[in-house]
Amino acid sequence: MIPFSPPYIDKDILSEVADTLKSGWITTGTKVKTLETEIASLCGIDNALCLNSATSGLMLSLKWFGVGRGDEVIVPSYTYCSTALAVYHLGATPVMVDVLDDLSIDPEKMRKAITSATKAVIPVDIAGWPAHYDEINAIVKEKDIRGLFTPLTNEQKTLGRILVLSDAAHSIGAKYKGRPTGSLTDLTVLSFHAVKNITTAEGGAICINLPGQFASGDVYSIMRLMCLNGQTKDAFTKNELGGWRYDIVLPGFKMNMPDICAALGLAQLRKYKTKIYPRRKSIAERYYKLLSKYEWAQLPDLKHDKTESSYHIFALRINGINESQRDKIINEITAQKVAVNVHFIPLPLLTVFKKMGYSILDHPVAYSNYSREITLPIYPQLTNKQVDYIVKTVELAYKTVMKK
Ligand SMILES: Cc1ncc(COP(=O)(O)O)c(C=O)c1O
Repeated sequence: MIPFSPPYIDKDILSEVADTLKSGWITTGTKVKTLETEIASLCGIDNALCLNSATSGLMLSLKWFGVGRGDEVIVPSYTYCSTALAVYHLGATPVMVDVLDDLSIDPEKMRKAITSATKAVIPVDIAGWPAHYDEINAIVKEKDIRGLFTPLTNEQKTLGRILVLSDAAHSIGAKYKGRPTGSLTDLTVLSFHAVKNITTAEGGAICINLPGQFASGDVYSIMRLMCLNGQTKDAFTKNELGGWRYDIVLPGFKMNMPDICAALGLAQLRKYKTKIYPRRKSIAERYYKLLSKYEWAQLPDLKHDKTESSYHIFALRINGINESQRDKIINEITAQKVAVNVHFIPLPLLTVFKKMGYSILDHPVAYSNYSREITLPIYPQLTNKQVDYIVKTVELAYKTVMKK
């Protein structure tokens, strides 16, 4: 059996986690702080805030910006549910927009979806390939679009335009026109869920890259307060001798990351650039080379000029098939003991969003890509031999189902 995405755990990771367990401090403390510093450095920004998930990061970012009832937030229809549910949980309306063939939000359709109620847009870097940030960042700054913006909170007044919040759950380490994920939009949310390029078992981070009218350190401090119930002292500070008194100054969430999780992430991050990322890249390149000889294979974007994927997953699409044939091909692949996946079922096909009135008919590009998509695994432990076997298996499955 070739699994889809086992976590990468080596002796350095075990030892960093054991060190935390032995230290007597397992919840938010010094390891989280160190992880935040390392993430900020990787992303080329001053401040990153670690949390218990990317979903929390999206919710906290929107909450910080004052998004709530009556507001609209634009999201792509081709993403994981969290992107839209984060909006929904704040009482705002997710406005779904179709994607381009590279699976990222269509900037022109995004522009058309903007109204005077739009407070934020959430582009998503599917499979680790950055969305079209130059176009997106330019649209929110256009005179007419700024003119539509109706600020209600201090943060909204200070920004003076729609917030660009990147859902970079897949794309830590990616580059867009030479600049790293985390430094491309006002706020960027990373995920450290178990299957991600860097994992803390569950976890996420907000990268703060707001324009000059905001002090990044101050935004970090307020978000930190908001992720800890609005409490003026974290458990670590309260634990210090005589440090018992605290106040709750705002109605915050409970979304902080514990040190035990940060330890896992820290040990992984230390070998991301030198080991984990290069191995992911070489696996993706091997898939690309092996699959490029088949006219039925539509290959994902990996690297053009100075834009490069994080090589999170290999989103293969098969030309000339329908959804039912795709499902049959997956069954054939699974029968050969290879675990593959589909990223993603477009949101309007999911019950919860159907019930809210979203229709897949409004998202033809998302549907066409979903119906032909098969995600091949990428992770450092995968050997070249296994990659070759996976490609052979896909070829055989295609031929069996399509009778070629
Ligand atoms: C595109 C996307 N956004 C958000 C999330 C949510 O991440 P988390 O599980 O860390 O909340 C995921 C998780 O798979 C994702 O794929």
